[in-house]
Amino acid sequence: MLFDYYVRNKKNGGVKTSRFIPSTLLLLYILGSTATVANAIIDHPKWAAAAALGSNTHNALSGRYIIEFDENYEGTSTRFVKELEHEHDHIKWKVAHDYDTESIFRGISVQLEQDGFLAAADMDEDNENKLLSEHQVIHRVMEKHHVKRVYPVIEIQRPTIDLYSSIDPEALNLSPDVKDLPFAHSMTQVERVHRELGFWGDGITVGVIDTGVDYYHPALGGGFGPGYKVAIGYDLVGDTFNVSDPSSIHPQDTPLDSCQQPSRHGTHVSGIIAADDKKYNFTGVAPHVTLGMWRIFGCTGSTSNDLVIKAMIMAYEEGCNVINLSLGGVNSWPEDPSAVVADRIAKKNVTMVIAAGNEGAKGAFMISSPSTGYDVISVASVDNEYSLQPMFFVDSTGDQFPYTLSSTTNNFVNSTLVAYSNNSDDNDDDACPGTKPDNDLTGHIVLVKRGSCEFDLKASQIADAGGIAMLVYDKDGADVFKPTTEVASIPVAAVSHTSGIELLKQLQEGPLSLSFSNQLYPVKISSAGLVSRFSSVGPTYEFGMKPDIAGVGGFIFSTLPQRQGSYGILSGTSMASPYVAGVCALYLQAHGPAKDPLFVREQLQNYAAEVPAPGNREIIPLDSPIRQGGGLVQAYDAIQGGIHITPGKISFNDTVRYKPQTVTITNMKDRTVTLALENVPGVPVEPYNLPISGFAPVEPAPSNSDLKAYLSFESSITLKAGDGTVQFPYMGVIGNVTEIPIFDRGFPLITSMKEISSHSGDNTEESVNVTEYVINRTPGVGNENGDGGETSVLVLIRFLMGTRTFLADVLNSEQITIGTAVTSNYVQRNTLNGVGMVVIDSWNGTYIPNKFEHESRQVPVENGTYFLRWRALRLMGDPDNPDSWETVTSKPIIVK
Ligand SMILES: *[C@@H]1O[C@H](CO)[C@@H](O)[C@H](O)[C@H]1NC(C)=O
Ligand SMILES: *[C@@H]1O[C@H](CO)[C@@H](O)[C@H](O)[C@H]1NC(C)=O
Ligand SMILES: *[C@@H]1O[C@H](CO)[C@@H](O)[C@H](O)[C@H]1NC(C)=O
Ligand SMILES: *[C@@H]1O[C@H](CO)[C@@H](O)[C@H](O)[C@H]1NC(C)=O
Ligand SMILES: *[C@@H]1O[C@H](CO)[C@@H](O)[C@H](O)[C@H]1NC(C)=O
Ligand SMILES: *[C@@H]1O[C@H](CO)[C@@H](O)[C@H](O)[C@H]1NC(C)=O
Ligand SMILES: *[C@@H]1O[C@H](CO)[C@@H](O)[C@H](O)[C@H]1NC(C)=O
Ligand SMILES: *[C@@H]1O[C@H](CO)[C@@H](O)[C@H](O)[C@H]1NC(C)=O
Ligand SMILES: *[C@@H]1O[C@H](CO)[C@@H](O)[C@H](O)[C@H]1NC(C)=O
Repeated sequence: MLFDYYVRNKKNGGVKTSRFIPSTLLLLYILGSTATVANAIIDHPKWAAAAALGSNTHNALSGRYIIEFDENYEGTSTRFVKELEHEHDHIKWKVAHDYDTESIFRGISVQLEQDGFLAAADMDEDNENKLLSEHQVIHRVMEKHHVKRVYPVIEIQRPTIDLYSSIDPEALNLSPDVKDLPFAHSMTQVERVHRELGFWGDGITVGVIDTGVDYYHPALGGGFGPGYKVAIGYDLVGDTFNVSDPSSIHPQDTPLDSCQQPSRHGTHVSGIIAADDKKYNFTGVAPHVTLGMWRIFGCTGSTSNDLVIKAMIMAYEEGCNVINLSLGGVNSWPEDPSAVVADRIAKKNVTMVIAAGNEGAKGAFMISSPSTGYDVISVASVDNEYSLQPMFFVDSTGDQFPYTLSSTTNNFVNSTLVAYSNNSDDNDDDACPGTKPDNDLTGHIVLVKRGSCEFDLKASQIADAGGIAMLVYDKDGADVFKPTTEVASIPVAAVSHTSGIELLKQLQEGPLSLSFSNQLYPVKISSAGLVSRFSSVGPTYEFGMKPDIAGVGGFIFSTLPQRQGSYGILSGTSMASPYVAGVCALYLQAHGPAKDPLFVREQLQNYAAEVPAPGNREIIPLDSPIRQGGGLVQAYDAIQGGIHITPGKISFNDTVRYKPQTVTITNMKDRTVTLALENVPGVPVEPYNLPISGFAPVEPAPSNSDLKAYLSFESSITLKAGDGTVQFPYMGVIGNVTEIPIFDRGFPLITSMKEISSHSGDNTEESVNVTEYVINRTPGVGNENGDGGETSVLVLIRFLMGTRTFLADVLNSEQITIGTAVTSNYVQRNTLNGVGMVVIDSWNGTYIPNKFEHESRQVPVENGTYFLRWRALRLMGDPDNPDSWETVTSKPIIVK
């Protein structure tokens, strides 16, 4: 069976783009934040910045660079640094990491010592400017003949995990008939591979790059080193690692998660791949593999792409057949160096399996790097069928309801339940400060609705009114969530919306007596088998189809460090990725480890199970491939399947660019079958609501079941044959993607601290609009308050869409371009909310004149009137065609 989907994008004709009104949040952010995103002023063919200008979660670390040597460089990294220091006398470099693996990556990750280069007084033709800026230094490095590329070091956030519940192993005495339910192995045919084919991952080595692992866990072998399950690996960073400070790195011999507050993540991921627990009869996907763990996170905080690269290379050199990375940062450009290195390792027949990201709520174009790599497997998440939940009972009726304790609650109480508000329609601010309960709460558990204020505030309101515990019900849905509390003085637990409404109904007859049990029961998930809501949505900004495939990642039971109860249920593409990595291990055991990873990926895609779209299955039955990739991995069919289709996925780009595509279908078995070709449309994703909000992204991106894609086939075929159905997903966009605007309407815009502070609280478009902007450089005159002009103007930019190149040209009073203020590559789009909502930059009247372009030399403008002209290259735009650039010119800026 063949199937298809597409992203919808109408022509821009006559539809106005939306003006995004800066809100209070925006103003607070500007005033409260030091983390502005002024980006590199480097424009050089060797500069490969995949720094995500639009997304503050994926920042370049200042003064830190990865320098890649070219193939002909024969020296060592020490020699390279010595040479650099010799050429530029006062510049001091600190080498953070050294890469020396021929055919993968040779180079260094370095930190420029600030004092060094600022004090440097070397060669300056005009003798005007004695200081070399950081960008000039980097420019000179790039001029060196044996430098292939320079990349910025990018921070990578600690993977977010949604801890659903931590499980007490003693409570895990499920009845035999439900035992395998929480483990998802029947949804993916893993159970069948174990039982019928007897593959358990023997002989395959899977490397994991993560937060470390509790290898003392009995299900993970109870030790480290040869003969143990976790046989190889290393701790690249140590417990106290701080990403901003390379000197905080203290590597340890083993990748033990030794933190006081264990990190959970790496142990859970390891268990999904390889746990083998005799006591509770829990097995991972490939429990007989040899595991490796390379730890690149300290006990708190983030890591960086130079460490990810280092760890991938170490795992490659240790002979891993599969490497799992349940990490990344939103960056839907495939040019990120971690994606580049992942691709090179994949070319060496190591299957790279990487989480697509947990940004599903933020709409389309939100895939994480390095899963954007061309040759890696980017993994989306599908929700498990069952979760394990404790239950409480209504004593009078025996009715039972699943619940989840809040993050700081260890035990609940048995008592009577009353409602805070008797009516479920008019209580969106239930138990928030200023509200009054409908009932006497004294001595009772209190039922409240989620929303409007924090759980801690609700709990304190209830405690003040004499309540002894709080039971929160969700605003919608049939599943339980885990409430986050920090200071609640009474126990807090949650139930689903459905359960909350049912309890409210029963409460009309009077208070209910409840008993809370710790015993776990399998509970059906309402979104079972659908793409998880958090799973990131593709495609890449180059319209490469990502994600590639889905694993089970919503409500996953696996191991936790023993200090954290040994087991727990977590959700994330971080869980789906190791699930697929485990399936790859089973596949490689069956077919030999020396397999081309692209072939493995295609085989998984060819035999994946199509994931239905939520809602009405009769109209459009399948979810979009930019959510599910090829579908939910099916281990047995992928291993046994005799037909192979290559490529495993097709992106047609858009309707002005699409061309007929050729797929090759190979019969690997010795039997004749006829294949019928069929196009099965999936639900289109609509990233924008054009009539209402123009090209402002809709988050999350909705489906539009009024549209369908058609595909025609030029030939029908008869093959010598395999069995079952095979498929390939495809996607494309209606329209011309080059017409999608990059800047939100009214952006970029100039503002000033004065303007913002005098209008904080007033967020209308009019308020952020003055006529004259002055940069006053007279010492002691320009200041933050703006009396007499400020020393710089603020620039606010909202990117509706990513752009390969963003420039701010500086124009003189005649509007003639005299140079450049900012150049930035591979920019991300902004999101609708939070810190990623707007890019904040500033301009202090310096620029790189056209004549100094070759050396990135920045100088101040002379007194006068100037304009900034911002330019962004549209998607798939030809940089040489002026039509491909979107251009906005600022108001005049007076520099004195
Ligand atoms: C473990 O689970 C498997 C598969 O569900 C089942 O066949 C087996 O009997 C179970 N073993 C024990 C010891 O419960
Ligand atoms: C990490 O290092 C930076 C720079 O040295 C420092 O400013 C920051 O406070 C450190 N963070 C922590 C959590 O120690
Ligand atoms: C509440 O009642 C249940 C069922 O009777 C019991 O198992 C549990 O221990 C009780 N909880 C407390 C805190 O007393
Ligand atoms: C990768 O595996 C394929 C067989 O699937 C083989 O032809 C190729 O030579 C291998 N490549 C490398 C670099 O080992
Ligand atoms: C889509 O566009 C990219 C970049 O222009 C091109 O490399 C690719 O071949 C195109 N895909 C198709 C199916 O035409
Ligand atoms: C797509 O749109 C761009 C920008 O408007 C235009 O320059 C280009 O010619 C269009 N391409 C096609 C094939 O229509
Ligand atoms: C912004 O200021 C300019 C110049 O005074 C004026 O023409 C324009 O209408 C103003 N825009 C808004 C939205 O107030
Ligand atoms: C102006 O800003 C640039 C970065 O955009 C910086 O390198 C330079 O030091 C600043 N100059 C002054 C005088 O603040
Ligand atoms: C620029 O203007 C300032 C303030 O008006 C003045 O002090 C300064 O001398 C001027 N600089 C030049 C180079 O004209």
